[in-house]
Amino acid sequence: MITVNNSQQLQSELKNLHGRIGLVMTMGNLHAGHLSLVEQAKKKADIVVVTIYVNPLQFSANEDLASYPRTLEDDIKKLETLGVDLLYTPSDKEIYPEGMEHHTQVEVPSISYMYCGAYRKGHFLGVTTIVCKIFNMIAPAVAIFGKKDYQQLTIIQKMVTDLCMPIEIVGMPTFREKSGLAMSSRNRFLTDEEKLQAAGLFKSLKWAEEQLKNTSIDFRTLEKQAIDQLNENNFNVEYFSICHQDTLKPADRGDKKLVILAATKFGIPRLIDNIIVNL
Ligand code: PAF
Repeated sequence: MITVNNSQQLQSELKNLHGRIGLVMTMGNLHAGHLSLVEQAKKKADIVVVTIYVNPLQFSANEDLASYPRTLEDDIKKLETLGVDLLYTPSDKEIYPEGMEHHTQVEVPSISYMYCGAYRKGHFLGVTTIVCKIFNMIAPAVAIFGKKDYQQLTIIQKMVTDLCMPIEIVGMPTFREKSGLAMSSRNRFLTDEEKLQAAGLFKSLKWAEEQLKNTSIDFRTLEKQAIDQLNENNFNVEYFSICHQDTLKPADRGDKKLVILAATKFGIPRLIDNIIVNL
């Protein structure tokens, strides 16, 4: 695996690699979920490029940028065993040479300020900006993202469509612990016991799915019941919303392609998860 950390080296190495590029963008601290994205990229492309970059533009001042887990040596070992061709690990200076303040930003306005976007100011502006920049640098034929960040995936898909980028976006299923807890780099801030309790979020999504499939309960009532149950069990729910799968608009009875999106504080970390429901 070739590892480069500046854009000049990146461009010269890319010139030597021939074929369709499959891209997996990460912030590092790789777990089985990330590795499944790499496996998928290998299936869909001739060359696999991975990026590891903790993008400061997508963190606001009160968030966990400084404590975000950075485990580059371990990550490199994992990617080498998977046969990744090229790893790009840029510095902030490489990505934002003149700082972030006056940097051009890419915005997908319609769906970036709801759900997570309402609680994490500027988050998706930061995500779409870095994803657009890395797409421009690497020019992948296909890019693979996890469905755990369902809103992020939908926003990236819309950016690619709206800006006519010739890139196939593939979403991969969420990897879970045995308990059902969605894998996330931020789970390392939970003790083993807390991880078991945190799995309550997925249990509650499964419960809501059952209700959607087997009852005629009104969607807003169901959301409220799920939020109340979670809050009674040490969660501090930000949103638990039954939405339309494609537009992310609040769904109602009659809509068949649904996704339930949820975010909650649980101790220190913030957990997000979702479940796709086809009625
Ligand atoms: O999902 C992530 O890890 C990040 O938001 C991404 C897509 C790598 C952009 O920084």
